[in-house]
Amino acid sequence: MNHRRELIICLGSSCFSRGNSSLLKIIQRYINLHGLSEKVHFKGDHCFGSCSEGPSLKIGGKLYHQVSDENIHSILGEALHDLLKQEK
Ligand code: FES
Repeated sequence: MNHRRELIICLGSSCFSRGNSSLLKIIQRYINLHGLSEKVHFKGDHCFGSCSEGPSLKIGGKLYHQVSDENIHSILGEALHDLLKQEK
């Protein structure tokens, strides 16, 4: 059974103008760096309906707002820490 955790980035225009394209690259790099491609299903989706709080990200069903280049690493670390542990 494939049970990869879903990591969804909002690709709506508002989140795009707030900088999600740079987040996209950072997340992709993080997944590769930590060998998480088998454990995380990274995809884009349409507007989450919280544009004014974007860029928005959903990890394992939990919604994160105002994601930035600065806080993305701590968000990923928190949301994926159990997967990172298994990596060892
Ligand atoms: S465009 Fe991202 S939440 Fe609306």
